Amino acid sequence: MSNDSYHKLDQEVPEPPPQCPMNGTFSPFTQDYIADPYGVLEPLREDTPVFYSEKLQMLVLTRMEDITKVFLDPDTFSSDNVQDPVFPPAEETIELLSAPDFNPVAVMSNKQEPDHSRIRQYTKKGFSNRRMKVLEPYIRQRSHDLIDEMIQLGPPCDFVEHFATPLPGETIFRFLGFPESDDDQLREWCGDRLSFSWGKPTPEEQADIANKMLAYWRYCREFVARRNEEPADDLTSELLADHKNNPDDLSYLEVESIIYGLSFAGHEPVTLLLCNSLLSLLNHDTAWGEICNDPTLIPGALEEVIRFESPQIGWRRVATTDTEIAGIKVPEGTRIHLAIGAANHQPDIFDDPKQFDIHRTNSRNNISFGKGNHYCLGAKMARFEAKIALGILAERLPTLRIPQDQQLERIANVSFRGPTALTVEW
Ligand code: HEM
Repeated sequence: MSNDSYHKLDQEVPEPPPQCPMNGTFSPFTQDYIADPYGVLEPLREDTPVFYSEKLQMLVLTRMEDITKVFLDPDTFSSDNVQDPVFPPAEETIELLSAPDFNPVAVMSNKQEPDHSRIRQYTKKGFSNRRMKVLEPYIRQRSHDLIDEMIQLGPPCDFVEHFATPLPGETIFRFLGFPESDDDQLREWCGDRLSFSWGKPTPEEQADIANKMLAYWRYCREFVARRNEEPADDLTSELLADHKNNPDDLSYLEVESIIYGLSFAGHEPVTLLLCNSLLSLLNHDTAWGEICNDPTLIPGALEEVIRFESPQIGWRRVATTDTEIAGIKVPEGTRIHLAIGAANHQPDIFDDPKQFDIHRTNSRNNISFGKGNHYCLGAKMARFEAKIALGILAERLPTLRIPQDQQLERIANVSFRGPTALTVEW
């Protein structure tokens, strides 16, 4: 596995930074954190805003100011490690993913400059207003179809399974150009990537996920080869045209690897955004009723969801050189956990941050999509898709509610946050 691999499986963990506050208990995998990460992070942000988590073996940053500085200095704080498993994978997993044809390369989130910007500028063209317009009727139609199916099945019904998973999955597959007939198979292969790179899967789970990743990568390669022969109106064909026009600037393997990466990036975070939107809006006294009465409130409400209960509350970096953060010496190689959720709940930036307030005027100052050269390429698409979906849900199911006695289970993950299932009634 080369240093340029999409997922690097052999990370080194250096000694903790000297003279840094040590914390032997903090971990995103504890029940307390999974239930209420903001409650766990708040006293830490106030008392020791930069500390070393012995359980994660990472330096943890909790303040907006420090996280922003790190995002804006990609030369000192590389994103090389953002797609790697948090904990060393089992031998069998490493063996499985050492298959000679499993060779996706780092292309965007985990690629460094100057190659990162070179690859990003080609991909960015694909996220055009025209492409969003082409997708819009599809997102609308599928939202209506899925609500029809929910109505046939319930109430009650699991929103994760019947709406929040299929809608973003199918949307990104159409965006890439994958045919509808492959959707069920694709969903199975793409599942669990959340757990592979940011969770704590058992060796058995890792083997299952690794096999699916292999199958999915092979599918991507076959699909790109097909589009190379027969282009269509989709992102894959656009990238292949760019490759043909500039073969020395955008390689064929980079095109294959972009397709591999986008299927995850464009799917799970939006699934979690839709779930966290319903949880925040329906658990509030008036918010759902307000957006049902006045759908123009939806964009502001979504922005507040992205601040208050973001689908992504943590991210990673690694120090490329000896450096310093907030007066603490940070040796080269230190792995860094950016506690995005803590910064989004910082009281000197957001008044009364524990309050979900769809009329808040500065929700957009959240940092959930990152900042700087790696700023989320899909932010516009995520907002666009969620706005359409919420609008149609509010119009069709204004009496939507969450049963009072529901015991919610959330995913155990260093980066992503959302429920594993969400029963809704109407
Ligand atoms: C609510 C949903 C989403 C959230 C919270 C989110 C969050 C993020 C964050 C925090 C980053 C920054 C990574 C870094 O600085 O290292 C990122 C990067 C990225 N996101 Fe998203 N994302 C979402 C949806 C999407 C969607 C829908 C797509 C694609 C269709 C997408 C594609 C990407 C890509 C390609 C990058 C890497 C950009 C680069 O490195 O230049 N994301 N996202």
